[in-house]
Amino acid sequence: MTDQSAKFTLGSTNADLALRSGTIGPDVVDVTSLYKQSGVFTYDPGFSSTASCESKITYIDGDEGMLLHRGYPIDQLAERGDYLETCYLLLYGELPTAREKEDFVYRVTRHTMVHEQMSRFYTGFRRDAHPMAVMVGSVGALSAFYHDSTDIADPHQRMVASLRMVAKMPTIAAMAYKYHIGQPFVYPRNDLSYAENFLHMCFAVPCEPYRIDPVLARAMDRIFILHADHEQNASTSTVRLAGSSGANPFACVAAGIACLWGPAHGGANEAALNMLTEIGSKDRIPEFIARAKDKNDPFRLMGFGHRVYKNYDPRAKIMQKTCHEVLDELGIKDDPLLEVAMELEHIALNDEYFIEKKLYPNVDFYSGITLKALGFPTAMFTVLFAVARTVGWIAQWKEMIEDPHQRIGRPRQLYTGAPLRDYVPVDERS
Ligand code: SDX
Repeated sequence: MTDQSAKFTLGSTNADLALRSGTIGPDVVDVTSLYKQSGVFTYDPGFSSTASCESKITYIDGDEGMLLHRGYPIDQLAERGDYLETCYLLLYGELPTAREKEDFVYRVTRHTMVHEQMSRFYTGFRRDAHPMAVMVGSVGALSAFYHDSTDIADPHQRMVASLRMVAKMPTIAAMAYKYHIGQPFVYPRNDLSYAENFLHMCFAVPCEPYRIDPVLARAMDRIFILHADHEQNASTSTVRLAGSSGANPFACVAAGIACLWGPAHGGANEAALNMLTEIGSKDRIPEFIARAKDKNDPFRLMGFGHRVYKNYDPRAKIMQKTCHEVLDELGIKDDPLLEVAMELEHIALNDEYFIEKKLYPNVDFYSGITLKALGFPTAMFTVLFAVARTVGWIAQWKEMIEDPHQRIGRPRQLYTGAPLRDYVPVDERS
């Protein structure tokens, strides 16, 4: 990492700023001392040109459509690895040896149960509560149960909290789903893999044995891998900012879940499926393409576009392949939603507006069709995203806490409000 310098000149003021290079990707100008040297702030409300931290976890090349986790391409991890192996990689920086993997899987598997009193939280929610609302509440409440792993200064407690979050999210999510549909909770089983266990907790009922389809379990595991981490996206930045104050990891993940819920972010998978359903048939696609291009219409093609990817989202390609595998396994032929999605993708990718603005399908475009085919209601789609992304949030939170230079995040602003003025008594106001 070679360090050079950058000069900032404003009138008669000159600021010497450090220029830093990473392993790969754009250099950064370190503006930490800019205000002290020049009296001005930088301004970048959407963080389009701003690196908020230094990280070794995930690298995205938006122009190339490349996504690396600790240097490994997402397509190799998704095709040749499994989710818990990816969790180990994100948390500890290296792929585990066979022994390390066996130990990690053993430890995660034995943290999957939640405190029995947790089940009482669910009955406090209305039956028709959105499962994401239940997730925000339930995960935030974990800090009320696990006092023995909230001292973030203790490396052992950070590790226990990390394992607990990765292990318990599927259980909490499955309980949210069961509560949503009025069925009894199903306890985790230690003889099942992570993805098998999640499908079992969601779809098993006491009245009959639940048969796990290995093709569907593999697809679920791959969907978890595709959503595991994604650099400094909005929800991960939320977790980092919450964690920078010293808040416990359960509270930080709850904040990440709340941010992920938005339709511009993790809520896009639910919104994309709702959009495909609203379009309904291929002949209505031109009407929606026109709306997406109309500046006076707030409608956007959900599942399209990305702040970083100005090429195809590599996860979308793998998700499309997984979608076909799941539909084939379930014998779903000519799924009308898939037909609309593929025709919409074809039209958009050949439309000047989308080409000029470099809008491609993102990870959320095909995930909704896949998750619906797996049996999940649309209200659960973002919950599944949260389950998968928890390891990314925790890995990024852990990296921040372990950074010796870490300080509380406290952005400044461009103030355009009223100048100094004196109070006016109410009887003198006009
Ligand atoms: C995720 O950050 C991450 O890494 C997120 C994520 C992760 O794994 O964590 O990848 C997960 O959130 C994926 C994105 C899911 N969201 C959607 O699919 C919602 C639809 N997409 C858009 O809302 C939008 O593309 C965003 C929010 C994803 C990106 O927004 P930006 O970067 O702020 O881009 P922009 O809004 O400035 O758009 C640039 C131009 C605009 O036109 P102009 O003002 O320049 O004329 O492109 C247009 C936008 O109007 N545009 C779209 C569009 N997305 C952008 N036009 C129509 N349909 C769209 N989907």
